[in-house]
Amino acid sequence: MCGIFGYTGKKKAVPILLQGIKTLEYRGYDSAGIFVSGCAPVRAVGEVKNVEGAGGLTKCVGKAGIAHTRWATHGVPSLRNTHPHTDCEESLYIVHNGIVENYKELRERLENSGHSFKSDTDTEVLAHLVEDAFQKETNLHRALVRALKDVRGTYGIALMHKDFAREIVVARMGSPIVLGIGKGEQFVASDPSAIIRHTDTMLYLEDGETAVLSPGGYKIFSSGNKTLNRKPEKVDSDIGEIQKEGFEHFMLKEIMEAKDVFDATTRGRLDLKEGVAHLGGIKDVEEKLQNMKRLVIVGCGSAYYAGMVGKYMIEEHAGVPVDVEIASEYRYRAAPDQKDTVVLAISQSGETADTLACIKEAKRKGLLTLGIVNVVGSTIARESAAGVYNHAGPEVSVASTKAFISQLIVLVLLTLYLGRQRRMGIGEGRAIIDELMKLPSKIQRIFDGRDAIELVANKYVLNRDFLYVGRKYNFALAYEGALKLKEVSYIHAEGYGAGEMKHGPLAMIDKDFPTFAISPKDSVYEKNISNIEEIRARSGKVIALGTEGDMLLASLATDVIYVPKTIEMLSPILNVIPLQLFGYYMSVARGLNVDRPRNLAKAVTVE
Ligand code: M6R
Repeated sequence: MCGIFGYTGKKKAVPILLQGIKTLEYRGYDSAGIFVSGCAPVRAVGEVKNVEGAGGLTKCVGKAGIAHTRWATHGVPSLRNTHPHTDCEESLYIVHNGIVENYKELRERLENSGHSFKSDTDTEVLAHLVEDAFQKETNLHRALVRALKDVRGTYGIALMHKDFAREIVVARMGSPIVLGIGKGEQFVASDPSAIIRHTDTMLYLEDGETAVLSPGGYKIFSSGNKTLNRKPEKVDSDIGEIQKEGFEHFMLKEIMEAKDVFDATTRGRLDLKEGVAHLGGIKDVEEKLQNMKRLVIVGCGSAYYAGMVGKYMIEEHAGVPVDVEIASEYRYRAAPDQKDTVVLAISQSGETADTLACIKEAKRKGLLTLGIVNVVGSTIARESAAGVYNHAGPEVSVASTKAFISQLIVLVLLTLYLGRQRRMGIGEGRAIIDELMKLPSKIQRIFDGRDAIELVANKYVLNRDFLYVGRKYNFALAYEGALKLKEVSYIHAEGYGAGEMKHGPLAMIDKDFPTFAISPKDSVYEKNISNIEEIRARSGKVIALGTEGDMLLASLATDVIYVPKTIEMLSPILNVIPLQLFGYYMSVARGLNVDRPRNLAKAVTVE
C-alpha cells in the first residue's frame, strides 16, 4: 500500500506532487507528506488535503520533490510516523512503500552505532542506512544501492538529498515503481494513473532495479548495478481523471456502472453463432489450456470470492477440476501441482502482494499462469504468461463492486472458452450467451428498485450482527455480501453455506441476529427454503434475496428483495448488486466514510 510520487523538472513541484499523491490516495490515507528541494518537509495526519497549505508549502518554489500517502504498517498513523523520513542530519529524505522485514535488527544496529530515530517506522532505517552508506560512496545512487544490500523485505523507494537538489533516486523490490518520461521533466509513482496527466511515456522498474531521475533524463540500473537500455513504453491514456459525476459516493457510482461494465467486459468477445467467447489475451496459450487438467484460482477478498463462483461455472460447464485458494495461503503451501495445472490469479488492482507472489511461485514451478486483471499494465498483468483484462475502468471506492461484477463476467467468458474446447456443445454455449446478453436490462430493473433496498437497510441499521447464507453458485455470495457489509459499515457479518447452519451458526440466531438469505429459484431453492423455515422457527429475522414473483419467499421472510430470473450460473451477477447496495446504504445511514473505510486501502501491496 502507500502511494509514492516524485517530480523533477522545470515547473513548481508542490502542486504537481500534491495532485500526484491525491490520485494515489486509494493506496492509503492515514497520513501524507512532501519534501521539495529548498523547502522544509511538510507532513500531516489524515488525507492529502491536510497537507495543502500547511507549513508554508504555498511559498515553496522548488522544482523537484517527493511525496507520500501512507497506509500504516509500522507505527500508528501520527505526525512522527508520516513520510518523508530523514537521517540524523536531516539532509536526505525518503518515501517508501513496502515493509522492511528485518527493520528491528537494523534499527538496533544503527542505534548502537549512534543513530537516533524520530519515528516508529520500518522506513526510517532506510534513511539511516543510506546516511551511513553515503560516507563510503561518491553519489546518492551508489549509497542507496549499498544500503539496500542489508535490507530484507519489499520496497518502492524515492530518495532525495539536499545537496543534489534536482535528483531523485528510486529503487524497486516487490512494490511497484513506474517512471514517467517527459521533456525536461521526469516523474516517478507507484502507479501510472498518477503520471498519465503529464506523459504517457513510461517505464516500469523490475524487482531489484534502481534508477536516477534528473530534469534532463533518467538512468536505470540492473540488480547487479549495470546500466540498462530498456526503452520506455506508451501507456493507455484512458486512465484519466475520475469524477463522482453527480453521485454522492464513488461506491454508488461504481455499482451503478454495472451495465457499462457489462458492455466493456464483453465487447468484441461474444460469438453467439459459435456459442463461444474470443479472448485475445489467452489465444497464444490455447493449446496449453486444451491440455490443462486442473485449474487453481488464487485471489484475496472479493477476488477470491469471484474465483469461488468461477469454480462452479467452470466445473459444471467445462468439466475442468478447479481449486480456489486464498492467495496468502497458496503462496506458502507446498501444493503438489502437476505440470498440467494452470494457476489463474484474479485481481482488480493487479498489485496485491499475496496474489502476485502466487504467480511468481507458480512460474517457479514451471506452471502456466493466467491473470484476470482490471488495471492495465499492472504487475500481475505483466507477470502472468497470459490473461484477460476486465476493462471495468478505474475503481476508486475501496469496496470492490463493479470490478467484482466484471470478474464474474470474465469467468463466464472463460467458462465458454474452456467449455467449447471440451464438452460444451454449441447449443449450450449459445444458450449461455443468449441469457448473458439479457443481463443489462435485468440489472436496470434492480437499479429501478433500489429505493426498496435502501428502506430495508434503514430498518436494520441498528443491528450489530448479520449472517449471510447461500448455496451452490450463491454460496460465495454469502461471503461477498458479508464482506461488503463489514468493510463499509463496520457491522459484524459472517458468510456461511446455508447447509452449515445446523452445524453451529444456528445457535446464534435470535430476534436480534438477522440473516440475509440468498435464495433464488434454482436447483437448491427448496433446500434454502427449509433453512429459512429453521431460522424463522427460532425467531430469527430473514432478509431474503429471491427471484421476482416468488410469493412463498415473501410469506416466509421478514423482508424480501427481488431480482429478475436468469439461469443459475449467471444468477450471482444479478444477486450481488442488492448485496452491494445494502452494504452501501447501511454505511450511508451510519454516517461513515463509504469510499475510504477506516484501516483499509484499495491496493494491498504488502502481506
Ligand atoms: O486488487 P485485488 O482485486 O487483488 O484486491 C483484493 C482484495 O483486497 C479486495 O477485493 C478487497 O477485499 C476489497 N476491499 C473488497 O471489497
